Amino acid sequence: MSLPLVGQAIAFCRLSAGVRELGGTRQVLTRFRSGEAEKESPASGRDRRNRLSHQRKVVQNLCGGADGLQDYLDFSRHCYNGASTTMLDESIQELLSRSLGRIASANSLEELEAVRVDALGRKAGLTQFSKEMGKLAPEERKHIGQLLNSARQQIEEALESKKQYFAEPDLRARLGAEWVDLTLPAPGPRRGHLHPITRIQRELEDLFVSMGFAVLDGPEVETEYYNFDALNIPAEHPARDMQDTFWLDGGNVLRTHTSPVQVRGMERLGPPLRMIAPGRAFRNESVDASHEHTFYQLEGMMVDREVSVAHLLFFMKTLLTAIFKREVTVRLRPGYFPFVEPAFELDIQCLICGGPGCPVCKQSGWVELLPCGLVNPNVLRMSGIDPEEWNGFAFGLGLTRLAMMRYGIDDIRLLQGGDLRFLEQF
Ligand code: DAH
Repeated sequence: MSLPLVGQAIAFCRLSAGVRELGGTRQVLTRFRSGEAEKESPASGRDRRNRLSHQRKVVQNLCGGADGLQDYLDFSRHCYNGASTTMLDESIQELLSRSLGRIASANSLEELEAVRVDALGRKAGLTQFSKEMGKLAPEERKHIGQLLNSARQQIEEALESKKQYFAEPDLRARLGAEWVDLTLPAPGPRRGHLHPITRIQRELEDLFVSMGFAVLDGPEVETEYYNFDALNIPAEHPARDMQDTFWLDGGNVLRTHTSPVQVRGMERLGPPLRMIAPGRAFRNESVDASHEHTFYQLEGMMVDREVSVAHLLFFMKTLLTAIFKREVTVRLRPGYFPFVEPAFELDIQCLICGGPGCPVCKQSGWVELLPCGLVNPNVLRMSGIDPEEWNGFAFGLGLTRLAMMRYGIDDIRLLQGGDLRFLEQF
């Protein structure tokens, strides 16, 4: 059934007036239009249902009965887009200004978050409005779309700047507390220091240089000749077994001691000669707290006319006094090394107990420290020096061992272990 257009318009006006009379809002109409009023859930309560049915009656009445209402609805469908666009428009504006108001008066981040959820949340505000947009004519959809975007943007911006406002005191507090004085000099790279063995080595080099000794260097990969033969240790000599040797392809060795540098020194410099040769030596040892495959020695040699054990003792005492920074008592025991004759083991009186005996000196009162002796004439001869005219002394100091004694280090592996926590203590 349809009313003439004028009739429809009149019905619409009457209806709108009536609805307004009901204290009515647009929602009343909208609900009836979409049939939503009928679907109201029972949970909305008896009062609400009563009110709705009352409203329905009034509206029907205004429209001249149920058919009149239907006519009104048909007619209003013509007008609906226009009316509903306006309504949406207003609702969006209203939501926008309400949200901006809430943002302006918000006192905490939590309040801001509540506004965001209400206005921009998935189940609320603008999002709901944008769902309505589907029902609109294309040109209205465009208008409402722009409106929604601009509202969303304004709300987002207002939220953001209010958030900044809240963050600002925090930031200012942090900036006040955490500051860097850019005028201070940069700390620069962390400075290291010399390894304890290098320190001792340099001290001894200075000492010997002050007594007229040259500091010589020699290869760590050494020939069999310099490492053994030239030191009076020919092949098959049992003394070769005293040193567990790393043999290399081609018959060379990792030098087992610094003594080969004696020979190189004698060959190069000739007599009279005073030299020391600090450096690394290698033995094929199984490693434990007191054995390392790599360790440091300091070799020494003096070749001159009429060199005696007295000279040897003088230099050794000078050396040990410099190392331990006090007068030390020494003794010589017979030793055996094929390149010196006589050979000695030089012991020092125990610095811990001073003689009576303690765990460090194994109750003997003496600590074995320094093998030495007078250079074997064979060694001089092999190096082209006439033993009738020249003689000399030689010694081999274990630098690693000495560093351990001086600094009280009880595990030799620490020295080459590369652990900075250990090294930083020196
Ligand atoms: N080269 C020997 C070794 O490493 C130590 C040594 C002993 C060196 C007596 C000497 C010396 O110069 O005279 O076992």
